[in-house]
Amino acid sequence: MAVDVSTAAAPAPSPGVAGRSLAIDVRGLEKSFRLPGQKIDSLKERVLHPTISRDFSQLRALDGISFEVNQGEFFGIVGRNGSGKSTLLKVLASIYRADAGLVRMAGRLAPFIELGVGFNMELTARENVQLNGVMMGLTRKEAARRLDAVLDFAELNEFVDLKLKNYSSGMLVRLGFSVMIQADADILLIDEVLAVGDASFQQKCADVFHDLRGSGKTLVLVTHDMNAVDAYCHRAILLDHGQIVHEGNPQEVGRHYLRLNFERGETSSAAQASAGGPAVRLVDIWLEDAAGERTNSVELDDDIRLRAIVEADRDTPAPTFAFLLSNADGVHVFGTATQLKREAGEPDLLAAGSRAKVSARILNPLGSGRYFVDFGVNREHSQTDNVIWVSKAADFVIYGTQAQTGLIALENEFEAVIEDG
Ligand SMILES: Nc1ncnc2c1ncn2[C@@H]1O[C@H](COP(=O)(O)OP(=O)(O)OP(=O)(O)O)[C@@H](O)[C@H]1O
Ligand SMILES: [Mg+2]
Repeated sequence: MAVDVSTAAAPAPSPGVAGRSLAIDVRGLEKSFRLPGQKIDSLKERVLHPTISRDFSQLRALDGISFEVNQGEFFGIVGRNGSGKSTLLKVLASIYRADAGLVRMAGRLAPFIELGVGFNMELTARENVQLNGVMMGLTRKEAARRLDAVLDFAELNEFVDLKLKNYSSGMLVRLGFSVMIQADADILLIDEVLAVGDASFQQKCADVFHDLRGSGKTLVLVTHDMNAVDAYCHRAILLDHGQIVHEGNPQEVGRHYLRLNFERGETSSAAQASAGGPAVRLVDIWLEDAAGERTNSVELDDDIRLRAIVEADRDTPAPTFAFLLSNADGVHVFGTATQLKREAGEPDLLAAGSRAKVSARILNPLGSGRYFVDFGVNREHSQTDNVIWVSKAADFVIYGTQAQTGLIALENEFEAVIEDG
């Protein structure tokens, strides 16, 4: 699975910024795929759509990508599905040819990109690893030693003579990752596949990353796991539609990634659907950030700012307004209610034709995850007499990259020390 990058393309490690050596130098990469089914095949279509050219059947998976990775650096690539991460890794691994641009690699490369790529499924693990060793130019003895190391790490000794087509995907991941680690390459390219492994194997991979960090090896890691990027990577880029939209420290890139994921779309249409009819209509409901902009996401610890506008079609006396937050499992995590704020002498009434703006700022101890907002209006200050109740009128996501789990985020101090004596 190790590939020697041609030394013609990659001469001696080129000096990078601040005198450090570059392991990977990528400039102006472009890669398009032709999309099927968009051919113009009738004269009628040609007349109706004269501007459709062959360009429209091209999907630009990489659109001018440039970056550098220093030797010894752990570099993360994140982005939504289809943003071009795997395509980029495949170009780096010479599996795809770029349409334009330049890739230079200094060192031996071990890609781990797709499940089973580089293996022959009709052969056993033993045969595959031996074949792989031969292709790497190992002697028989070396290849045998390597087989043992690979199987030990993968904990697949019992399955050494099983054909790979009978392996589970988790077993394939173990084997592929072990082969890659034992290849002792300088540059590792890894495309999320690791997520397929079970918890114990993922811990093992985490330990390997930990050991490799600072050992001089260079790692490029594609993942959707922001905790992994944060834990292992020195630097990361965020891809969107084949372009780098952010580059920088992993935490920052992780935040941008989560924003990209959750700051799309508007208020759920459930609000409109169930709001019609009664005396009061929910006109709008949304979340705001500290700057007063609409948002669908809230960072851990940031206040939750809920806003709603209701309009009365009929007089609604003594209204009470309520927000109720539930998590994705439907657990009610918090509810709050308020009455109409009035100047002295003003009636406690939402008169027909008038609107009320409802605002709540809620301190936020909630853990990360998706939350739903129910909104209701009662009359006569009643607890039960709903004029309207709109379930899941809005939803939002609480996000963050801290290593914590659970319903709520509690402030905590936590340490582990070696106990001496
Ligand atoms: N061999 C191919 N032929 C045609 N289109 C392709 C091919 N490989 C990728 N694409 C397209 O290129 C775009 C980028 O795909 P890519 O696999 O690089 O995304 P990704 O960022 O790895 O996504 P994911 O997070 O889902 O793995 C997608 O629109 C995809 O459909
Ligand atoms: Mg991918």
